[in-house]
Amino acid sequence: MNIDLSLAEGLKTPFYLYDVSILNRTLQEINKCIAGKPIKVHYAVKANCNPRILSLIAEAGLGADCVSGREVSAAIKAGFNPDDICYAGVGKTDRELILAMKSGIAYLNVESIEELEVLDNLALEFGYRPNICLRVNPNIDAHTHQYITTGLQENKFGINLAMLDEAVELARNAKSLNLIGLHFHIGSQITDMTPFALLCNKVNELVDYFQKKGVNFRVINVGGGLGIDYDDPDANPIPDFKNYFDTLLKNLKIHEGQEIHCELGRAVVAQCGSLISRVTFVKKGVNRKFIILDAGMNDLIRPALYGAHHKIQNVSVDLSDSESKPATDIYDVAGPICESSDVFGKDEELPVTVRGDIFALRSAGAYAECMASTYNIRPIPETIFVD
Ligand code: LLP
Repeated sequence: MNIDLSLAEGLKTPFYLYDVSILNRTLQEINKCIAGKPIKVHYAVKANCNPRILSLIAEAGLGADCVSGREVSAAIKAGFNPDDICYAGVGKTDRELILAMKSGIAYLNVESIEELEVLDNLALEFGYRPNICLRVNPNIDAHTHQYITTGLQENKFGINLAMLDEAVELARNAKSLNLIGLHFHIGSQITDMTPFALLCNKVNELVDYFQKKGVNFRVINVGGGLGIDYDDPDANPIPDFKNYFDTLLKNLKIHEGQEIHCELGRAVVAQCGSLISRVTFVKKGVNRKFIILDAGMNDLIRPALYGAHHKIQNVSVDLSDSESKPATDIYDVAGPICESSDVFGKDEELPVTVRGDIFALRSAGAYAECMASTYNIRPIPETIFVD
């Protein structure tokens, strides 16, 4: 991503910068990989719900995976066809369940026997017959950060395998529900394909098991989770979708008429975004030097919340002339928030930096703008789109 410094001239920093061409290339690659295959991708709206990003993704023909009633409404407003929308969530309120049914979305992913009963009663009361998938907790370790692993038995998500028989029976006998499939999601930022292959084996086992009992599933939703390269976004701006979809196609026993649904979020949007910030101070400590940015953990919470690292670039220093490599120094890069965890990087080797330099925190298209807060009464940053 080429960050044009003139963009920051006269603009109030920090702001999120989105590169539409990277997003479009990512979407083209996804569409190329799944063309002619029984795979449908629902973009996980939670990763970035900026209306313009949503519209671009809807235009590319992807569906939407939502986790709140307001996400369902935002997806429809952005141009997603309700037929292409699914809705998961462990705590959908009655209001949200009714809104989803009224909107005529493709299906709801039901996460518990308790939800199944409530939804069935609401559907009957309001005269709907929604399609549902049962979200299964497959007890598979995604080997990712503990806060973003979701498919382990002790996680709150989905129906435990031990309760699945009962849930399938209840769903089939429900008065007003139409059971069409199973849903899974094992975690996020997964870069090794092994957990996905293990998930496929578990899916095959369950599909066979239920087929023997006379239950066929039209939809198998394997969730999201494909990771991206946070260390070198310029070398790998587009995630390895081919490897991911090939893993699914190779390992899943896809039955006649069955559709495989995926819910990719991060892999679709992370690399098209950067958080652009200005250096407020370069501060000397006793043994350390600090770069204090005008962006903080309220604008990009991933480092503070998950110990995540986004590539930090001083874009005011021209690195293109490799003959004269700029002098560097070692810095801790932090934000202005009154929390010790408001740090974007420790011991970062960066070009010698001065007050006023422009910095980019890369790969901030996913789980950045949508997780921003007004902590310390700070404003939510503006967004700038470039082609
Ligand atoms: N489907 C379900 C049911 C999910 O819970 C999630 C993400 C996704 C799909 C999309 O996963 P993705 O393809 O983006 O990995 N805020 C965290 C990530 C939380 C992910 C929550 N669920 C982060 O910044 O790393």
